[in-house]
Amino acid sequence: MTASSDSATAPNTQIRPISCQVDSQGHLWVGGCDTNELAQRFGTPLWIIDEQTILEGVSAYKDGLSNYANSQVLYAGKAFLCLAMCRLVESLGLGLDVVSEGELFTAAQAGFPADRIYMHGNNKSESELTAGLQYGDVNVVVDNFSELDLLATIASRLNRKARILFRVIPGVEPDTHQHIKTGQHDSKFGIPLEQIKSAVQKALTCEHLIVEGLHAHIGSQAQRLEPYLENAEILADLTEQLKRELGFELSTLDVGGGLAIKYSKGDSPVSASSWAKAVAKQVTESFERRGLKLPRLLVEPGRSIVGPSGLTLYRVGHCKQLPGGARFIAVDGGMADNPRPITYQSIYTASLANRADAPPAQEPRSIVGKYCESGDIIIKETYLDANSGDLIAIFGTGAYNFSMASNYNRSPRPACVLVKDGNAEIIVERESNDDIIRNDRVPPRLAR
Ligand SMILES: Cc1ncc(COP(=O)(O)O)c(C=O)c1O
Repeated sequence: MTASSDSATAPNTQIRPISCQVDSQGHLWVGGCDTNELAQRFGTPLWIIDEQTILEGVSAYKDGLSNYANSQVLYAGKAFLCLAMCRLVESLGLGLDVVSEGELFTAAQAGFPADRIYMHGNNKSESELTAGLQYGDVNVVVDNFSELDLLATIASRLNRKARILFRVIPGVEPDTHQHIKTGQHDSKFGIPLEQIKSAVQKALTCEHLIVEGLHAHIGSQAQRLEPYLENAEILADLTEQLKRELGFELSTLDVGGGLAIKYSKGDSPVSASSWAKAVAKQVTESFERRGLKLPRLLVEPGRSIVGPSGLTLYRVGHCKQLPGGARFIAVDGGMADNPRPITYQSIYTASLANRADAPPAQEPRSIVGKYCESGDIIIKETYLDANSGDLIAIFGTGAYNFSMASNYNRSPRPACVLVKDGNAEIIVERESNDDIIRNDRVPPRLAR
């Protein structure tokens, strides 16, 4: 068995999970498990999450922050969340960023400590905020003035003190797809820089709110470091202004997440440890230069922790070639389990999982899904020489696949297994056709 050649580098800078290997029969292994056996045992499509890759991803962030005295890594649950993931993240000492009542409920069911939960979102409802405060001392990242009023009212009604950060629009744009930029001036997320002072001022007068600090997340799948450094400098400027004009000195600064992963050879993201080290250094310099005390530093990566740990196994069904030359390999999943290609034109890398050592095809072909959209293309151009019955692995599917999946065409969602040291454990069961009709109701006038 040969270890994958890039296993020595940080998980977010390599395409495959770090435990990936290919045996002498050409079988792809991950987490000490033969993917061919996993396909037999659990069926396909199958999401596989490699625990070791997550552990190393988390270590990379912790290493990068090790010179900063007071820091905390929050895992952004929107990337991938289920009960087992909550337990894993908690056991690693991370905090958790949640953006909905469903994510909060999942965390609560997993017993995640309230004070390590950060509630995000640009339209938190009364029910969500109430659920958060009732669960315990959660932290709320306030997005707008109207939410601030609502939170103050709920906190007063429940007689609780809510710890808050304000989400800032820093006016910084990372190098990423338009749909996942969040820091630009016209972003729907957060409060413009020039309004933060009045937001803080207002909150400071409310006895049921404890203002901890500021937050800014500039976007996702960003490869370059510079926008993050600029973000830190802008937040330091704002902190100085708040101190000068309001006498308020923040205790917590959350610089967001968003670091990219390597989906294909064309991607070259900075490694998680270098990113964290550089951001912490910038915060230190920017704050010290202004004579500000160093805040507790929070970072909240999602994709770069769980994305590289995942791969999706598909079984090839029918293959065809059109008279014009176009070739298609159709697999048993597609846009319902991975909506990223059709949503963001995302590029993925594939390997045969049963003949990983097979020579490449002469002509390019597309790996397409089975759903009723022409845009349901997983990889537009590949030289994978796949035939009916072959197993295909698509790498980098740990983030924003399971969490963005749908039941399009009334398709049950795949199962998800966690692999480590030769063990494969189900962490999300495969949905059934019964699950598909579970919430359907037939009005009596239409009943048979
Ligand atoms: C507020 C916030 N924090 C963190 C993240 C995590 O981003 P990523 O998964 O790219 O690290 C997101 C993603 O959209 C976000 O909106």
